[in-house]
Amino acid sequence: MVIKYKPGCGEDALLKTAALKHDYNNSIQSIISMLELLQQRVNGGIDGGVDDLIEAGHRALDRVGEQARGLAQNGQSRSPPLVHLNRCISGLNSQLASLLGSCIELSMSISEEDLWISADLHRLESAIINLVLNARDAMPNGGKLIIQTGLVQDGKRQCSSYASLRIIDNGCGMAAAILARALDFSYTTKHSQAGRGLGLWSVRDFVSDLQGEIVLRSIVNEGTSAELLLPLQE
Ligand SMILES: Nc1ncnc2c1ncn2[C@@H]1O[C@H](COP(=O)(O)OP(=O)(O)O)[C@@H](O)[C@H]1O
Ligand SMILES: [Mg+2]
Repeated sequence: MVIKYKPGCGEDALLKTAALKHDYNNSIQSIISMLELLQQRVNGGIDGGVDDLIEAGHRALDRVGEQARGLAQNGQSRSPPLVHLNRCISGLNSQLASLLGSCIELSMSISEEDLWISADLHRLESAIINLVLNARDAMPNGGKLIIQTGLVQDGKRQCSSYASLRIIDNGCGMAAAILARALDFSYTTKHSQAGRGLGLWSVRDFVSDLQGEIVLRSIVNEGTSAELLLPLQE
């Protein structure tokens, strides 16, 4: 089953602030995961990967700083600069690997095109982290996660060219009734502290601000693909 979301009117400022707090907590969580990995390496006397983790930690700290500024300004963000999608994803590799742990195999299939989009880098990173965390939660016993980018040219859509970003997992998938509500504010099927139902709403809000689209495809017990179509800047 597939559901699509296209932007409508702007989302409420209070909801935006709640989603920003959620993304801020995710950033803190990714810093904690990286510090734990660093600690394991130091304890084991392993030097490999330490520099990457420290660099990724600085990057996550930049995002936390930007999110804290956004919260101080009641969720208002600045006008978005240009971001190179592929470089953004490659730069997140260590953060994502720390969040996923060793039971989930992460692979990237990055297109050769230069995919420039007009987006706030930190919001884009938060959207990717939200989708990756959902994929992780859908694969409690491990699995495979693929991040794919590509160029989509489609005369039937609002823009002629989009950068496509897909996060694909082979986890539990979603039944039709869950998929239909997955993008709603505060909708969650998770009972832990982790599940607040704001992750996909935050992604939807980000995509909506860019006049992009989200396509969720899911099959129970086979997996899920979350695709973001973000207008390309040429
Ligand atoms: N990759 C996925 N696989 C299976 N279910 C998913 C996936 N992504 C989202 N979901 C479902 O959508 C719901 C809403 O997701 P989200 O808004 O991120 O909130 P949360 O993760 O806090 O529950 C989840 O509770 C889950 O049921
Ligand atoms: Mg989530």
